[in-house]
Amino acid sequence: MSQGRGFSVNQDVNDAVVVRDVSRVFEVRKGASVTALDDVSLTVAPGEFVSLIGRSGCGKSTLLRLIADLDTPTSGSIEVFGKPARQARIDQDYGIAFQQAGLLPWRTVTGNIELPLELHGVGTAARRARAAELIELVGLTEFARSYPDQLSGGMQQRVAIARALAERPSLLLMDEPFGALDEMTRERMQDELVRICAETNAAVVFVTHSIPEAVFLSDRVVVLEPRPGRIRSVLSVNLGRAAARGEDLREDEGFFQSVSQVRELLHGAPAAGARGVETR
Ligand SMILES: Nc1ncnc2c1ncn2[C@@H]1O[C@H](COP(=O)(O)OP(=O)(O)O)[C@@H](O)[C@H]1O
Ligand SMILES: [Mg+2]
Repeated sequence: MSQGRGFSVNQDVNDAVVVRDVSRVFEVRKGASVTALDDVSLTVAPGEFVSLIGRSGCGKSTLLRLIADLDTPTSGSIEVFGKPARQARIDQDYGIAFQQAGLLPWRTVTGNIELPLELHGVGTAARRARAAELIELVGLTEFARSYPDQLSGGMQQRVAIARALAERPSLLLMDEPFGALDEMTRERMQDELVRICAETNAAVVFVTHSIPEAVFLSDRVVVLEPRPGRIRSVLSVNLGRAAARGEDLREDEGFFQSVSQVRELLHGAPAAGARGVETR
């Protein structure tokens, strides 16, 4: 397949993310290297929710950073909405949220959410209006004027998500955004994220260690394996449109089945004949 640079219209132009034969090798010291990703290919459709799951060190964060253009592949190519990853970053086609909320402590909730808009020259009135809208979306209206240290971890994370959504990205890149939260807060945040995705119709690439979290949120779960980092298998979660899932799903038989399928895929070889499994 050609790896032309320009913006030529091709069959992938409508995909949110196209990762094509991507490898990333880190030189750790003279003569020694780590293959964080080895020939990984993955396509994410617009509005699709895809989770990356796998043991520590299998290249999940590396893959996300490459999509975000925070790092460059050793070989292969990455396109976001048909553009090279670099151009997508410049055009702010995606929002990012990581494990640490990373809020500025001297700015209020409103101030933090307005920051990206401010940096890109959006006027005060428009900024205020957008921040208010997002604060309502993440259910923090009463805390608009609070400072980060007056909020719980879950609330801080909601502010970080609101900030990531400020510029209406069609793609969200999230690296263990709920990793530091207790189980109950985490489930509430997952419900919230499902609702937000339904409202914004953003595609999401979501890194997690939690199997139930991956299943609950995703249209597809991508299982990675380490050394070298590769895609072991991809499971389609056939539990209805991810964005329309509700709390009941956590008690659903199909949900438990998908959870055990992902668990088997993580711990062993791809389960032969497992339903909905596309091995690569
Ligand atoms: N900047 C870097 N320099 C050297 N090695 C790195 C760097 N970033 C990641 N690695 C290595 O690449 C592998 C994958 O890392 P990472 O993507 O962080 O894994 P994960 O997020 O799945 O835990 C690991 O072996 C890690 O040590
Ligand atoms: Mg990581």
